[in-house]
Amino acid sequence: MEVKLAKSLGFCFGVKRAIKLAQENPNSVTIGPLIHNPKEINRLKEGFNVGVVENIDEIKDTKKAIIRTHGIPKNDYAKLKQSDIELTDATCPFVIKPQQICEQMDKEGYDVVIFGDKSHPEIKGIMSYVSNPIVVLTPDELVNYKISQKIAVVSQTTKKKEDLLKIVNTLITTRREVRVFNTICNATLDNQEAAKDLAKVADIMIVIGGKNSSNTKQLHNICKDYCQDSYLVEDLDGLNLEWFSGKTKCGISAGASTPEWIIDRVVEYISKI
Ligand code: F3S
Repeated sequence: MEVKLAKSLGFCFGVKRAIKLAQENPNSVTIGPLIHNPKEINRLKEGFNVGVVENIDEIKDTKKAIIRTHGIPKNDYAKLKQSDIELTDATCPFVIKPQQICEQMDKEGYDVVIFGDKSHPEIKGIMSYVSNPIVVLTPDELVNYKISQKIAVVSQTTKKKEDLLKIVNTLITTRREVRVFNTICNATLDNQEAAKDLAKVADIMIVIGGKNSSNTKQLHNICKDYCQDSYLVEDLDGLNLEWFSGKTKCGISAGASTPEWIIDRVVEYISKI
């Protein structure tokens, strides 16, 4: 099998920074998984005793906590700051940006539309900076809200720009003032463009990453648009040899939270098929 790697794939700047911070702070806990990759979380637990708690009330035995790349809600942050817990903030700067924009726009009296997934921790954090957040995934959902004429729009960092534009288009034709902040992060855009280019010429695309990772799922969706035999796997054990029958050119992409050691072993295995 000829294997080609996307020009940009894998760990982004925010994830690299968070892992470095976690390794520099052993014997601590992260509030929610630091990144969306269970195997890397396991490596941090085994090698550095960096555990995971689900919420801040569970921080008991350790006095050191790390904020995940996706950030945490404003109230939780304030509570932690007032406690005697030693806090390391690994929130990605690309996530802090929409938090700050939301807070400012809310203060200035704009209705804030957040393009993102309500159940995702990044969005839960961002929403907490707005008094009445309007969170949608598609333009159709906008009808569920009473929206004023003054609107600010931000996006979850890992979304597709084409989908953000659909929401903006709908708003701009019906409202007087729409301020758009493109808060999709560069790492996501680079990985998406590179995956798209490769999917156009590959017979089969393998996207490697956590099944709970939003940016990995997004890459998978993009690949499916251009190469119908596109599959998402977390690691070697997710591969199915039948997928490769009759194929000669396999493209590889990987989410921003996928470690190099997993990418390497999947590539090595597929090259031998
Ligand atoms: Fe940050 Fe973008 Fe990575 S938001 S964590 S640089 S995917």
